[in-house]
Amino acid sequence: MPRAAFVSIGTAVPERVVTNADLVARMDTSDEWIQQRTGVQERHWVVEGEGVADLAERAARRALEKAGWQPSDVEAIVFATIQSDHVFPGDGCYLQGRLGLPGIPAIDIRNACSGFLYGLSVASAWIQTGQYRRVLLVGAEVQSTGLDVSTRGRDIAVIFGDGAGAACLEATDDPGRGVLNVQLHADGRFTRELSGDAPGAVYHPRVSVKQIEDGSIYPHMEGQKVFKHAIVRMPEVVREALAKAGLQTGDIKLLVPHQANLRIAEAVQRSLELRDDQVFNNIQKYGNTTAASIPLCLEEGLTARGVRRGDLVALCSFGAGFTWASALIRW
Ligand code: UT7
Repeated sequence: MPRAAFVSIGTAVPERVVTNADLVARMDTSDEWIQQRTGVQERHWVVEGEGVADLAERAARRALEKAGWQPSDVEAIVFATIQSDHVFPGDGCYLQGRLGLPGIPAIDIRNACSGFLYGLSVASAWIQTGQYRRVLLVGAEVQSTGLDVSTRGRDIAVIFGDGAGAACLEATDDPGRGVLNVQLHADGRFTRELSGDAPGAVYHPRVSVKQIEDGSIYPHMEGQKVFKHAIVRMPEVVREALAKAGLQTGDIKLLVPHQANLRIAEAVQRSLELRDDQVFNNIQKYGNTTAASIPLCLEEGLTARGVRRGDLVALCSFGAGFTWASALIRW
């Protein structure tokens, strides 16, 4: 059976940089609090008129260029985002149209911070079964336009950033290369702990003036609860993947954890007893970009940690749902 191999990764973030000082001007917070509690120094936020599909297209075109592919080489698109530009259709179709690929399938994945890994599982399965040989996998988010940037929303607003990452995946018969396994989990008992209530189909109309005024349109997060689950689930799901592949933590050349909070990533590293040179984080520059965070971090981590063909790369995530996931890849 062929495996899915990463041929290239392309990324894009908005040009507009928002520093912690910029946030201090809008809410009761401090650079010290944000850096100590989250590690974030700055993030990129879109400007008016710039959306998820814009970032995704930029990342996708970079990935295609790096792979030496024409857009017409792509046989299917898997698009992970929870922040679509419009209510429907999903951004996968917008991206497909922009790339000029009428007829190929475009599927949207709404698994928040685990979206890129859920998407990787779908793309990898398509490639393994021979349904498609070349798949474009995208993780893209615009969080900033949905944040409460007043003091009321400060616990969430300081964390999130906008961005996109795209990967060209191709079938390989090389036994020393490709996605070894992807582990996926969810626990719907915790839907409320990290959620966006409105607009929603259960409301008539889907959003009201009252909901806008009382803040129901903004994300709700029970930060400490999310934190406590994340630092258990992420190491656990990496160990699960390693055990299935008959590998050890010492075999990992590079671990890229979802960039939720630097303290979470550091706790995951400690729990897995990994050295600093085995892990890469870049939340300092981008904040938490949800489904885009893994490809954004992976692209830089490959260079920073000198990953070569055949090295073992591990990815893991935790986020809304709750959902959590991991992937092991021979690069
Ligand atoms: O990727 C999606 C998954 N999301 C996550 O993984 C996020 C997980 N959670 C977290 O990263 C952390 O829980 C937060 C960064 C959200 C919050 O950090 P914390 O250390 O858990 O702080 P806390 O919520 O316990 O709040 C501590 C204090 C509170 O004040 P009091 O009650 O002690 O007086 C908050 O009101 O910090 C206050 N606070 C802030 N102060 C300054 C909350 N946000 C801010 C802020 N600036 N931005």
